[in-house]
Amino acid sequence: MRVLAVETSCDETAVAVLESRETDGEASAVALGSALLSQVELHAPFGGVYPNLARREHEKNLVPMLKSALSEAGMLSASPAPRAAAEAAREVLAREKILAAAAVPFLAGTEPPDIDAVAVTNGPGLEPALWVGVNFAKALAAVWGKPLVPVNHMEGHVVSALLDETGGIRKIEFPAVALLISGGHTELALMEGPASWRILGETRDDAVGEAFDKTARMLGLPYPGGPAVSKLAEEARAGNIPSPVSLPRPMLDSGDLDFSFAGLKTAVRYALRDLGEISEDAKKGIAREFEDAVAEVLAEKTKEALSRARARTLLVGGGVSANREIRRVLASLAAPNGVELLLPRPELTTDNAVMIALAAVLKLRAGASLPPPEKIEADGNLRLA
Ligand code: KG4
Ligand code: ZN
Repeated sequence: MRVLAVETSCDETAVAVLESRETDGEASAVALGSALLSQVELHAPFGGVYPNLARREHEKNLVPMLKSALSEAGMLSASPAPRAAAEAAREVLAREKILAAAAVPFLAGTEPPDIDAVAVTNGPGLEPALWVGVNFAKALAAVWGKPLVPVNHMEGHVVSALLDETGGIRKIEFPAVALLISGGHTELALMEGPASWRILGETRDDAVGEAFDKTARMLGLPYPGGPAVSKLAEEARAGNIPSPVSLPRPMLDSGDLDFSFAGLKTAVRYALRDLGEISEDAKKGIAREFEDAVAEVLAEKTKEALSRARARTLLVGGGVSANREIRRVLASLAAPNGVELLLPRPELTTDNAVMIALAAVLKLRAGASLPPPEKIEADGNLRLA
């Protein structure tokens, strides 16, 4: 089965073609083509993602990403005669004029690729950004005459952990617990079957990636802050540099599986205010203390979720799952408890279209019913369950 997926939920414009196979009961998936353009440098001066800028960039970049993914997949072939069906795209893309201007001639001049379905992220994320991808995917599905599969972005992050190093799709035991940690989300979810979700706990305020980003800003580090804070923290660990302050472990004893990271960020602000001018070593120490606080809270809540659910599998997804300290702490809680820890390959931790295609493949395989394309809408607050 081949699925072409489109992802525009935040500041990455991504298109991928994934081929899945099944031999002797073993499933595997390989990206035939994958193209991704990050807008991170454009948004960096704003210290976060600026929705209307993201929207315009997606409009400009979707057709180049589509061309690049199709060409890598060997699926880009010119049409001998202009294809009238392409005009359908103009109607679907009425609200995205920049995108329509590039998409209609492209679709008129090329043959439909040999795929089984088009998939698209329909939420959660920045709604203006999501709409560009949703409308683009609707146009592709209409012009090519293919089914359209809406995919929850968070489901994409979870299934990204199912792809092993060699392209095999791991089989997991249910119930499983998923820890989703990204710039917009912090959730613990129970997975009772391939597409059956229940939210066990979530953040009451900031997402964990957001706390990394804001802490980075206070420490004078660039956006996105996660990798920058983590680098300083690692330097502090390597050099045995202590923190000049201790930070709270919010909600550790709350008795539920919810999180809160706004207070931690505020504690960093007060600490920096009280310390005044600080040395580079003090900054490293604070970064380390911040990362330890986050890792400890995530680990404790995850352990509790696994035990309440009696789950033997832990899937972790989202941009923050790239964090080495968090990976280490989660690994050390999983092994002694007989829990299998599944983490995404590093290139699949941040937003990408491969994970969206994979989620669509798994849905189609499970026989999920698809809504009619006209009913598919972008929803910035789309939930897993
Ligand atoms: O999943 P993602 O690419 O986008 C969203 O869906 O939000 O996650 C982006 C977030 C950013 O907040 C970024 O700072 C964080 O992931 N991040 C990290 C690391 N790499 C990325 N946070 C901590 N440590 C990292 N190594
Ligand atoms: Zn994401």
